[in-house]
Parts: sequence; C-alpha cells; structure tokens
Amino acid sequence: MKIKHLISIIVLTIIVASCCGNQSTETAVYLDENQPVDARVEDALARMTLEEKVKILHAQSKFSSAGVPRLGIPDLWATDGPHGIRPDVLWDDWNQARCTNDSCTAFPALTCLAATWSEEMSALYGKSIGEEARFREKDVLLGPGVNIYRTPLCGRNFEYMGEDPYLAAKMCVPYIQEVQKNGVAVCVKHYALNNQEAHRHRYNAIVDDRTLYEIYLPAFKAAVQEGKAWSIMGAYNLYEGEHLCHNDRMLNKILKEEWGFDGAVISDWGGVHNTDQAILNGLDLEFGTGTNGLDSKYGNSYDAYYLAEPYLERLRDGRADMELLNDKVRRVLKLNFRTAMNRNKPYGSLCSPEHYAAARKIANEGIVVLKNENNILPLAKEGKILIVGENAIKKMTVGGGSSSLKAQYECTPIEGIKAAVGDKAEIIYQRGYLGDLLRTYNDVDTGIDLNDPRSEEQMIADAVEAAKDADVVIFIGGLNKARYQDSEGRDRVSMALPYAQDKVVNALTEVNDNVVVVIVSGNAVEMPWIDKVDGIVETWFSGTQTGHALADIIFGDVNPSGKLPFTFPVKLEDNGAHALNAYHKDSLKVEYKEGIFVGYRWAEKHDIKPLFAFGHGLSYTTFEYGEAKCRRAGDGFKVSVDVSNTGTREGKEVVQLYIGDEESTLERPVKELKGFKKISLKPGETKKVIFEVEPDMLKFYDPARGGWVLEAGTFTAYVGAASDDIRTTVSFVVK
Ligand code: BGC
Repeated sequence: MKIKHLISIIVLTIIVASCCGNQSTETAVYLDENQPVDARVEDALARMTLEEKVKILHAQSKFSSAGVPRLGIPDLWATDGPHGIRPDVLWDDWNQARCTNDSCTAFPALTCLAATWSEEMSALYGKSIGEEARFREKDVLLGPGVNIYRTPLCGRNFEYMGEDPYLAAKMCVPYIQEVQKNGVAVCVKHYALNNQEAHRHRYNAIVDDRTLYEIYLPAFKAAVQEGKAWSIMGAYNLYEGEHLCHNDRMLNKILKEEWGFDGAVISDWGGVHNTDQAILNGLDLEFGTGTNGLDSKYGNSYDAYYLAEPYLERLRDGRADMELLNDKVRRVLKLNFRTAMNRNKPYGSLCSPEHYAAARKIANEGIVVLKNENNILPLAKEGKILIVGENAIKKMTVGGGSSSLKAQYECTPIEGIKAAVGDKAEIIYQRGYLGDLLRTYNDVDTGIDLNDPRSEEQMIADAVEAAKDADVVIFIGGLNKARYQDSEGRDRVSMALPYAQDKVVNALTEVNDNVVVVIVSGNAVEMPWIDKVDGIVETWFSGTQTGHALADIIFGDVNPSGKLPFTFPVKLEDNGAHALNAYHKDSLKVEYKEGIFVGYRWAEKHDIKPLFAFGHGLSYTTFEYGEAKCRRAGDGFKVSVDVSNTGTREGKEVVQLYIGDEESTLERPVKELKGFKKISLKPGETKKVIFEVEPDMLKFYDPARGGWVLEAGTFTAYVGAASDDIRTTVSFVVK
C-alpha cells in the first residue's frame, strides 16, 4: 500500500514535470512537501475536475473515502475510536473483516481518563492511541468524545469526559495534540448537544444560549482552538430543528466563523438527511448514510449519498454554488494532506510494551476509591479472599457499540487479582448473579462462556455460603456493555444496578463484615447498601489492563489518586434534568430546562447531598491544605496554597480550584471548577500549588449583552480535594 502510493507519487511527479515543458525539473506544488499546506491544497484543487471534487466529499466504504487517484492523492481511512483502534470491518458491512493483524491495545474508557485529572495522562493516552492508529494506517481517529454528562442514563457517558466543561476542555487537548503528532487526525465527537442515546437520530435539543456557551461548547472550543483538531464529527440529533450534521448555526456560524475551525466537518455515520442542508450548512464529508433503496438508480450505493450524485446534479445545473464546493474540497484535501498525504509522519506501533504500560498507568491514575471505612483498603494479600460478581470474569472491551474493540490482551479483574496475590492468598469465586451472556460482538469473540444453569436464589445462596468463612469479600459488579446499559444507541432504563446485584450485595453483608464493592461502569449507579459496606471502588471500563490496574489499587501497590469527573447522585431525581422532568424518553423535544445547572452545579444550588460528589476520590495517605492566598498578577490573579502529605505513603493529590461570584446580575452557580493540579508528594513533603486566574475565567455568558461579561465585585476562590471537600477559601475583588 505504502510502496504503491510512493510509486504512484513518483510516476505522477514525472508526468506532471514532463507536461510542464521548461519547468521539467520542478515538483508540482501540491506534491512539494516544502510548500505550505494551503498552497499545496490550492494547487491540487486547481487540478481537479468537478467529478473528482465531489468524489472526495463522501464515503466509498464503511470507513474510507476516496482520494484523487489521477493525482496520486490517496484514500482517507477512518477508524473508531475513542479507546482503541477498532478491528477492520468489511468494505460495506459492519462485521469485522477477520484480519489477523488488527487487534489493539484497549485503553481505559474516556471517563477513566477524565478521572485521572491529569493532563500528563491525557498526553500519554493520545500519544499511545495515535501510534496504534498510525501503525494500522488509519488517517482519522473517531474520537475523543467530549459531550457533557447531563444524565446518568445516557448510554454513551463512558465515551465522554464527565460533567464539567472546564475539566473536559483541559483533558481533551493533550490527547488531541499527541494523536495528531502521528499524522493521524482526531475527529472530536459528537458536536454538539448529543447528551442522550434515546431517539438519538430524532430528538431536538432546546437549549438557551447561555447554557450552550457555558456548558456544552467549551470542550469543543478547546479541542478546536487549543488542541487544533483537524476534524470534528457532527452529532446525530437536532438543534433548532436542524440535524447537527448539517446545522447552520452550529457548524457555519459557531464552529467555522466564530472559532475559525480550519479542518473538516465529518458526519456521524448515517447522520445526513438532506442534500441542500448538507451543502449549505457546514458539512464537508459524509459517512455512513444508509441508502434505503435510494441507490436503485446507481451501480454503487455510495453514489446515492447526499453529497454524491445529488450534489453533482445541483452543481451541474447551477443550483449549487461552486465556491462553497471548493471550500469543502479544500477542507477535505487539507485533512488528507495533514494525514494520508503526509510522508513525514512516524511509523507508529501496535500493542507495544509501552502501550500496555501506558494503559495500566492511566487506569491506575483513574480508578477512584469512593469509600474506605475502617481502612479496609488496601487489602492484605493473605487469607481467604472471595470474589463475587459477573464483572469479575467478563471481558468488557467487547460490546457497547462503535467503541467495541478486539483487544490483543485483556486481563479480567479476577485474573488481575490472582496474578497479584500469587500463592499468598486463597482466591475463590462465586458468580452471585446472572447478567448478560454476551460473548461475541460484531463478530469478535471474547472466548468466555458465561452460561450458568443455576437459579437466582441458588446463585445468591452459593455466594453467601462461600462468604461465611471468607476473610474478605470483593463484589465486582456494576454495568456492562449490553443493551440499555453503558452502550450506544439506547439509554439505561434506571440508575439502579441491573440484575440481582443489590440483592447479592445485601446478602453478602449479612454474613461478612468485610465487603468491598467494585463498580465497573462509565456511569453513576444507585447504592442502596452503601452503609453496609466498608469499601467502594469505581474502576471504570479500564481496557486491556483492567485486572492488573484494579489489583494494583485494591492491594495498595499503587496509591489511588482518581477523582470523579461527574456527580453520583443518590437517586435520579437529584439530577437537574430528571428533577425537572427534562430528560425525555418519550418525546422528541428535549428541553434543557436545568440550564447551566448540570451535575454539581445543580446539587449545590439546591443543597442536595450527593452520594459522591464531583471531584471526590480517596487516597491511602492524607493531605493537609494550608491557607489559600491570592494576589494580583497582571490582569488576573494568582491563587496559591501549600499542600502537604501528612500520611505515611507517597501519593498524588488533585488540588482543585473552584470560583464563585458573590453577586452578579444573572444567577451563577455557587462555584465552578477553574483549575486543577495533580501533584505527587512523599510522606512529610509539602508543595506550593499556584493557579493562575485569568479575567476570562471569571466571565459568564449574557445573551442580552451578546456575549461574555466580566462584572466587578467580590469572588471567592475555593481550594480543596473535591467539590464537597473544600479546605480553604480566599476572596478577591475585581474592579
Ligand atoms: C457513532 C460514532 C462512530 C461511528 C462509526 C456512529 O454510530 O455514533 O461515534 O464513530 O458510528 O462507527
């Protein structure tokens, strides 16, 4: 493939050169890598026919779009995303192509990455997954996902970065920059307001401008302006009555005009519905359209795409504007020149020891210890350890929709625990409940037979019997990637743990005082048994290294440092969208009535105590915070605080800065995240953490005044270990 491409470029250079008479030794501008990319794009554009231009604006297979063969411009290959490189599928079929060279490293799900609160981990993630994409010769990686966590029912929350716009914005940028260093474009998704899976193709999001700008857009804006993302994916649903894959306001006005996006807008697969809107409203490259018989008049169904023949017809008869066409072509060519056409990119690598180490490190830093009464954790590697729960034996990298992977290696929780304890402790296992028996997905087989003939009662009885004389019980449950769970295309039906899990946990606590619950999920779950168990760990979908990373934390080989990227409400009604009945399963009109009060902003406004707050996460050591100080610095302020490790183990702390505006013309949240720093401290060590507060960070969006406003007055900086664990505050005045 690579050699063929090289040869065609050489041949072409010769042909182009020989056609140019006395310039015969010169390389065509579009092939000259010493020329600026825009000049090369312009030169290529000038050489293309109308048909060639339209050809590059839509897919030619499930995951590729055509280049310009006559000019030696290669095809463009996309891949899911966002947690690993998806196995190759057939040309025109979702099933995998059964290749033997397309397994990957499964990195932790993006909720886990967000839970690291570490830009360093985000960079490591981007570098590693970018190298895998590159090695597999993919040009566009379909991720990261940065939609805001609005409701715990959203089936795809696990692919996103939590509920806070500042956290999601900060955490997506290094990922993007590092992926793209490989000559692989990210495709940030799903732009925007795609916050539920129910009716994902049909619901119309009704959102006021303040909420849009303050909550739902900042991560996308950072991806574009700071990350410099080369492509972005339109969302499936509608906003202001127009599908987001061809939405004038979102794509033309905000993304391209306001933010100056110079990349390509790619449709979500099957997200295009109308040729005229697709032409006019900002879409550049169409993928995944189901042709529904529309293709009967074409030999190749891809010719029936909205941006294929129907577009060509409009161009030929003058209904469509040539300059608009050229703008799309320029953007797609630029994407191609930055990726497929770039010969100076590295080679990448797949399933390397470095990638396995990265996956473990990210998981280690993202796993969150939620509760640790009586210091039950870390557990000793001794005695009789009973493990209960289906998720202990289940491979979670398979399933859940387009992010499903074919991991070369996946260590399940039970395997990781066994490997960690060796022969120092006895490990016994009981299933406890029957959940989902999924074994294959898109033709990828986990190889694990999950059938069990026992009744629910029998399974619980067997687990209880085993728990009676165990020194400790680790229940490993949570959600999985089955339908109506953490899975694409449908939302969860409730916030409760599915199957008989609550019954099992309750029964175990009746006979054993040392129960630790490990939740595998990308979403908050109800915990009616919370007071009966001493230890609770959120371990996310943590990929290839799931079991090892979990064992590192529960046995204390790694000191936990993950913090929640979203609130765990006690019950669904404690979440704003649900309290206001503004999450709709049955209506296609979804009004974001809670406005800017998403997640902890809602909980704090209404004084609702969450089960676990945004930013919460425990360590096996203790940190003490000094007094926060604030001083003016240029136009802004610097807030500083000394943080000390007062325990006996080395550990990492995420020092969080929230800011509250004491008085403003529009109601503002009690406080909002405006800074975080993850620091490592040895026992007895103290470090000074300094946050820079720029004036822009103090603004709110006022539609009446047409934009961002900074009002004079007193602000409070809250510094602490979680949104509900503020250790010190300091006020400052903006004049
Ligand atoms: C998903 C995207 C994904 C695409 C390609 C769509 O259904 O919404 O996130 O990248 O399929 O698999």
